[in-house]
Amino acid sequence: MARFYVGNDHAGLGLKAAVVQHLVAAQHEVIDLGTNTSASCDYPEFAKQVASRVAAGDGLGILLCGTGQGMAMSANRVPGVRAAVCADTFSARATREHNDANVLCMGERVVGAGLALAIVDAFASAQFEGGRHARRVALFDPPR
Ligand code: RB5
Repeated sequence: MARFYVGNDHAGLGLKAAVVQHLVAAQHEVIDLGTNTSASCDYPEFAKQVASRVAAGDGLGILLCGTGQGMAMSANRVPGVRAAVCADTFSARATREHNDANVLCMGERVVGAGLALAIVDAFASAQFEGGRHARRVALFDPPR
């Protein structure tokens, strides 16, 4: 079982409820970093909160907004975070296996709850394959 940091804006609130319930039922640890109201809010604030916790290295992240796109763009500004927008299970599995993705982003206006939960399962159960993929992931960041 894994630890998941979950964040969302107002447009991802409904999907967040379904995702959290699903993760808890599967015995995962869930840390819900909000928002927990339907009031309009700014998604980068929640993306950064989740991303900073994931970058600390003790869990995966899930970010939900209208499209998933703004969440991914924001989260990927945090060093060590590899956030991927997924709207299908193949990509969710492959981005863990090949890209070592550590944050899953989805859009409530894009995927229905049934598909979203299948995407969560694909992401949660996949493992990074390392090897040649590790070499490529290491090339994401410039040498220091
Ligand atoms: C909110 O209207 C919407 O812009 C936001 O949820 C997200 O889709 C941005 O990427």
